[in-house]
Amino acid sequence: MESADVAADLSGVLHTEAEIRGRIAELCREIERDYEGRDLLLIGVLKGAVMVMADLSRELKRDVDMDWMAVSSYGAGTQSSGVVRIVKDLDTDLSGRNVLIVEDIVDSGLTLSWLRANLQTRGPASVEICALLRKPEAAKVEIDARYVGFEIPNEFVVGYGLDYAQRYRNLRDVAVLAPHIYS
Ligand code: XMP
Ligand code: MG
Repeated sequence: MESADVAADLSGVLHTEAEIRGRIAELCREIERDYEGRDLLLIGVLKGAVMVMADLSRELKRDVDMDWMAVSSYGAGTQSSGVVRIVKDLDTDLSGRNVLIVEDIVDSGLTLSWLRANLQTRGPASVEICALLRKPEAAKVEIDARYVGFEIPNEFVVGYGLDYAQRYRNLRDVAVLAPHIYS
């Protein structure tokens, strides 16, 4: 049985709840300016982006539509396989829409690179990316993400939606997972 006390599983907090909230507000001001006078469809990538989507969408001082996709590229490990599978597709027709993909993290970039290309085949007016976190040192493909919350070191992180084997998503901060948990 896993322990309900997670402190010993973490090796440090990277970004606190308050920092995240402040940075999301800054990103929202940019998004409001960039999309002024245009429709905006936020597409959240389940399950990691649930918290970012909830906070970002409520911080935006404008109308948005929201939809969700679930893709799988990891299994239960900590390395992207690069093979992406759609687990749940959109309910929304993307023709002519301004799409903003909302993600928790750009790690290798393989998932988002695949996802953006996939959405681009559906006739949208534009497709941009907003990710709370990015690990520049882990990039295997370059991802042009217009909105990035924080660049972080190449360590496995959890919290604020991010999981390891489905745990830790409900932590309010983004924290580094102690290596003894997954090695
Ligand atoms: P890639 O490598 O394709 O990763 O850019 C995309 C997805 O993998 C998950 N991911 C993580 N999840 N801590 C997590 O909890 C991490 O450090 C991490 N790195 C990648 C995440 O779901 C992301 O969308
Ligand atoms: Mg994810």
